[in-house]
Amino acid sequence: MAQPLLQLQKRTMALAGLVMMIYLIFHMITNLSFFTESIFNRFYDWYSHGFVRWPLLVVVIVALFIHVKAAVRIRKVNARARTVDYKKQDKFKIPASLVTVSIVFLLIFIVVHIFQILLFDDNNLYEEVVTLFQSHWMVLFYLAGLFVLTMHLQHSLANVLQTLGKSTATYSTLVWTGTLLLTTGFASVPVYIYVVMS
Ligand code: HEM
Repeated sequence: MAQPLLQLQKRTMALAGLVMMIYLIFHMITNLSFFTESIFNRFYDWYSHGFVRWPLLVVVIVALFIHVKAAVRIRKVNARARTVDYKKQDKFKIPASLVTVSIVFLLIFIVVHIFQILLFDDNNLYEEVVTLFQSHWMVLFYLAGLFVLTMHLQHSLANVLQTLGKSTATYSTLVWTGTLLLTTGFASVPVYIYVVMS
């Protein structure tokens, strides 16, 4: 693939990632309404029965598809170009196969989550979420998904910032803080249900 085309793929991937990131921040904040049942019910009643849910779901799925497709293409090009592996490796370099497995797991996690939500009774969402996280397997599955999401966001945001010439310790701390705030916010719901409500 010619260099300008590769750059275009990278930009497309980053843009699709940004769309999903905005959705994730919105989703995490609205999830926190779980801690006040009446607000959660009022919000999701408006969200599920109005004109927001379906267009937003389409945008997220299209963004996910574009992001994954561009990532696969870039990976193929890089693998073809790198006939000899880097000589000097990072001290804590994670094996490429493990990275692939974790990304595939993240994808499976997102698809399973969307299907679970689609099978929920919209008129009983709060109880459906509570029932889901009574299962320790489901809590483990979600925590594993969130762990991989944390690693993926940290790694990709650090890469984007490095490309923009911003790779100081301050930026690294900002990325870690933002990522951990996001995923801890998500994790608080299953953990609370399992520990306090079960
Ligand atoms: C433990 C954390 C999470 C909980 C408790 C949770 C809960 C929910 C709930 C209650 C909905 C229903 C909203 C609706 O009626 O549409 C939903 C939808 C959705 N969630 Fe999550 N979520 C979590 C994490 C995530 C993560 C990490 C992602 C993506 C990486 C994600 C992606 C989605 C998507 C795409 C939808 C839309 C499905 C639809 O509208 O039918 N969620 N989630």
